[in-house]
Amino acid sequence: MIIQGKEITGLFLAPMAGITDAPFRTICIEHGAALTYTEMISAKGLMYNNEKTKKLLSKMHPSEPLAVQIFGSETEPMKFATEYICSFNPVLIDINMGCPVSKVVKNGEGSALMKDINKAYEVAKAVVNASSVPVSVKFRSGYDKQNLNYIEFGKAMQDAGVACITLHPRTRDMFYSGKADWSHIVQLKQSVDIPVIANGDVFNEQDIEDIREYTGCHDVMIARGSLGNPWIFSNSTPSLEQRVQVFRHHMALQIDYNGERKGIIEIRKHGAWYFKGLKNSAKLRDLLFKAETKNDIINYIETILEIENA
Ligand SMILES: Cc1cc2nc3c(=O)[nH]c(=O)nc-3n(C[C@H](O)[C@H](O)[C@H](O)COP(=O)(O)O)c2cc1C
Repeated sequence: MIIQGKEITGLFLAPMAGITDAPFRTICIEHGAALTYTEMISAKGLMYNNEKTKKLLSKMHPSEPLAVQIFGSETEPMKFATEYICSFNPVLIDINMGCPVSKVVKNGEGSALMKDINKAYEVAKAVVNASSVPVSVKFRSGYDKQNLNYIEFGKAMQDAGVACITLHPRTRDMFYSGKADWSHIVQLKQSVDIPVIANGDVFNEQDIEDIREYTGCHDVMIARGSLGNPWIFSNSTPSLEQRVQVFRHHMALQIDYNGERKGIIEIRKHGAWYFKGLKNSAKLRDLLFKAETKNDIINYIETILEIENA
């Protein structure tokens, strides 16, 4: 995909609320992600100058190709957020039109916009007009299986002037269960002229090959398959020592970003993903989820190495 005259292509780290903060995005860039997305950011939160919301925009990696994802259903906050974000010069602004979470949907945001194509069009157009960088939209196959409107929806986004679209081919009411239907990606790709980014159920090297072959999309966005596994971006399998080394580096970034107290709380869930499937998992989980300091995490790592090397 060509964005702002630069070729940005390959494997992209998907937006994930509570996960794709600056430390985790840095780790994924270091492992070869070609583009990374922030967590979804509330346009209203930016408009009301909420400090926690603004922090979601921060970067740690100096040359990170960053896509900032925003959500909202009203044009004024979306325009405000777009202008504010453009002052940081991201590679792309992405609009979330796929979030299935009830508290988002009940405000008419996220996947609720799939029920109202006219409104979705107005929102996308407002962002495109306010933006100095390309805009994309990420959406699902439809709100439910009776309303699979991804083709009509994708065309409307193209008409609104967005530069590319990402399809997560599940309906809103599936949340993350069932299988992502890659045939929807194929049909969407055949129906629009703008690039389509493929997403859904890519967990390993074989899946990357399969989704590219099946859909013809070279650009693939990965969410759950990256958890504890940034090596998915470099098509490699890490040794235990490499996992330990990257986890320690991730912890250091977390502490820089959030301070020790919050950084350790944040790193716990990543620890469970980096080291899942090891022996004595109950004991390890207990050590990990009781950890409060950097030393507690180092003790957790040393225990892993003792158990695995015994
Ligand atoms: C914990 C979690 C948080 C997510 N947060 C977001 C989000 O903020 N914005 C978004 O567009 N999608 C979000 N998603 C959806 C993913 O970006 C992706 O579309 C979906 O998980 C399917 O890809 P996968 O099969 O590679 O996981 C989230 C998914 C997960 C599992």
